[in-house]
Amino acid sequence: MTDSRDAVYIISVAAELGGVHPQTLRIYERRGLLHPYRTPGGTRRYSDRDLEQLGLIQELTADGVNLEGVRQVLELRDEVERLRHQVSRLRRLLGEADIVFHDALVPQEMLQLAEKAILVPVGKRCGQHSTSQRFINKRLADAARRHQVVVRLKGGDPMLFGRAQEEIAFLKKNRIRVEVVPGITAASAASAQLGVSLTLRGVSRSVVFATPRAGEGEERSAWAKAAAAADTAALYMAAHDAQAVRDELLRAGLRSETPVVVAASLTLPGEQTRSGFLIDLPALVSGTNGGPVLLLLGEVFAQEAAAGVLSARTASQAA
Ligand SMILES: C[S@@+](CC[C@H](N)C(=O)[O-])C[C@H]1O[C@@H](n2cnc3c(N)ncnc32)[C@H](O)[C@@H]1O
Repeated sequence: MTDSRDAVYIISVAAELGGVHPQTLRIYERRGLLHPYRTPGGTRRYSDRDLEQLGLIQELTADGVNLEGVRQVLELRDEVERLRHQVSRLRRLLGEADIVFHDALVPQEMLQLAEKAILVPVGKRCGQHSTSQRFINKRLADAARRHQVVVRLKGGDPMLFGRAQEEIAFLKKNRIRVEVVPGITAASAASAQLGVSLTLRGVSRSVVFATPRAGEGEERSAWAKAAAAADTAALYMAAHDAQAVRDELLRAGLRSETPVVVAASLTLPGEQTRSGFLIDLPALVSGTNGGPVLLLLGEVFAQEAAAGVLSARTASQAA
């Protein structure tokens, strides 16, 4: 709801400024897209923020975006602002960095932002061996003693499946100040690329991020049970043995027709998504291109799954 102090335009002025008919403003309000302030007497008053929102609605509508059921156009814009802020913080730190220790999956374009830094590739593609992790910890601490700004650059969100905690703990123990810049985890990137929200009113109220991978000597986790209990699941580092992953998910209680999306090399060259049902997971994964793969499961992907099955059927009929 617009704040009364900012709501200064009566409907005819707001319509004039927005280049629309007053009736259009009422329609957008009825659809929940605009929330003008209502005076105690019931008169609508619009703010500059409402007019911005109106501009955005008009732009999206002109681009053919169906806003049916959408209530949060401005919040999406705020989210973009937040991401922009995050990116500019990362940009600034990379520009200031003297040395950057980076994972294999970090794109070249991002490394180029570290114009004056020494670039040191560390880490394996999926999880790191504990001795090499100890070695990375030590190199980070040594570098922090020699350089002003040391950046440890990881793919996605550094705080998810990235062994960041071990590095942070080691650096803190060595009295080295650490600042974490959050990133976009693969599940959020997939959700954005697909245009499918991981949560959906009445369909998905819980999301689990899990991995079947366990380090050497670690106990197996209840990842499959957790995935089966959630409405939506994002499985990291799970594609190497898709058949075992599928079988364990079925044993944990997921239906063989659970919609699945296999998202490979998200935001990287060769990005690829394939979709279908859980029963076909091994075949879906085997068609990917060798890049990192994220598995997504749940009814929110029902449309993608149906489309994937249809296009696979059409392709096999044409062959
Ligand atoms: C060691 S984990 C790192 C996760 C990362 N910190 C994140 O937040 O996305 C690596 C796993 O993340 C997923 N992943 C990372 N980057 C990806 C990408 N570009 N496309 C698809 N999956 C990705 C894959 O499941 C991969 O096996």
